[in-house]
Amino acid sequence: MTSPSPQNDREKVVSKLPPWLRQELKIRTAQLRVDIQDAVHQGISHWSALASAPSPVDTSGAESFSTWLPAGQWESFRADAKGRGVSLIQGLAQAVRLWLEMNPAPTVKRPSVVRRIVVCNQKGGVGKTAITAGTAEALAEDPESLHPVRIARQLARTSQGEEGQQLHHEGTTPLDLEDLPGLGMRVLLIDFDPQGHLTKQLGQQPLPIGGDSLTCHMAGEAKGPLSDLIVPVPDDRFGDRLHILPACTDAFLLDVRLSTVRAREAALERALAPVESDYDVILIDCPPSLGLSMDAAIYYGRRRDTEQPGASGALIVVQAEDSSADAYDLLTSQINDLRDDLSLDIDYLGLVVNLYDGRRGYIATSSLQAWMDIKDPRVVAIVPDLKEQREAVRVKQPLFVYAPKGDQAVALRALAREIS
Ligand SMILES: Nc1ncnc2c1ncn2[C@@H]1O[C@H](COP(=O)(O)OP(=O)(O)O)[C@@H](O)[C@H]1O
Ligand SMILES: [Mg+2]
Repeated sequence: MTSPSPQNDREKVVSKLPPWLRQELKIRTAQLRVDIQDAVHQGISHWSALASAPSPVDTSGAESFSTWLPAGQWESFRADAKGRGVSLIQGLAQAVRLWLEMNPAPTVKRPSVVRRIVVCNQKGGVGKTAITAGTAEALAEDPESLHPVRIARQLARTSQGEEGQQLHHEGTTPLDLEDLPGLGMRVLLIDFDPQGHLTKQLGQQPLPIGGDSLTCHMAGEAKGPLSDLIVPVPDDRFGDRLHILPACTDAFLLDVRLSTVRAREAALERALAPVESDYDVILIDCPPSLGLSMDAAIYYGRRRDTEQPGASGALIVVQAEDSSADAYDLLTSQINDLRDDLSLDIDYLGLVVNLYDGRRGYIATSSLQAWMDIKDPRVVAIVPDLKEQREAVRVKQPLFVYAPKGDQAVALRALAREIS
């Protein structure tokens, strides 16, 4: 069945397709950033150009499927199908399968140098751990399925000076959502805060005190390979791509132990070097402090000679409050000092304004605007205050397992793409 389209030279075609084939088509076109109508158009063209009909496709359970094709294509396809003695539904299924065969899924593009993302702010409770975990989960998500992402339009709107409250409401309209394939990165999370919140939130156990730990490795007193301490965060959506190096309470003494270590700012880099080649991205969930261990984390996130600007660096989590601004000044002066003293290139990956609630009024909206005005680093995400985050922590599940379609996951997927 066809009907002409008033807007362009395409006509609407209504036929049937088995749900599994339709799903594959949806995923593959999203992976390749191609319109479904163009894929079907190409598939039919290739099918008609074949010398004879290919092997049959199981079309049982076929359901209604509609798309737009160039005027006349459906009519000639109908004639070709008749000539080959196959039904229209069978012919369409073969054409779609042919397109899928000719347009294989893209392989995940991996960075040539492991990306190191240092999530920091010495202020506690701003959401460093939540943002680290969520970004890692988004980076590791399955590239063979689609996940809702909130596109970054909200950032553009706010920079034009719109009200925070509007932002919150508009930000939840379905119009802003897009289904995109997962990023499929191999990700290592480092719980670098002795409190071990990240470890516990992801349902893991902190490493026992007295055994081997990251602190031992950084202090030059390793008891075994670091890879023996790393554990996977299990869930199908992460495959075996998301790993964590759990915290150990011995890290409370890390600064003391580092004080006798030579070239101590490079201690984290030395400790992690043996496992780096197993990962595409390493994220460091920093403690709320500005000591030697923080220096080591910032040093680790510096830009390496072979690396593009903005691939690795510091991601700073802040809140839309006045006290956050003071903490930010202290942190950036530490980063800038390290940069100058050691002549390092340290990039800022961006600011994440977390726990945002425009209904809190002028303090929230004006603070948000102040963060936006900084420009470098730029605001890469505004993450609302949402209950799913706290609930996921309560049940000790990764946020993307607890609420994969929730607003929080949707915003964090956009953040992961924004800094990629
Ligand atoms: N966007 C958010 N919405 C709701 N709760 C959040 C959000 N971000 C963080 N939280 C919660 O706030 C608390 C502090 O966050 P956390 O990530 O532990 O901060 P930090 O690591 O900076 O100390 C936690 O209970 C966390 O679950
Ligand atoms: Mg934390």
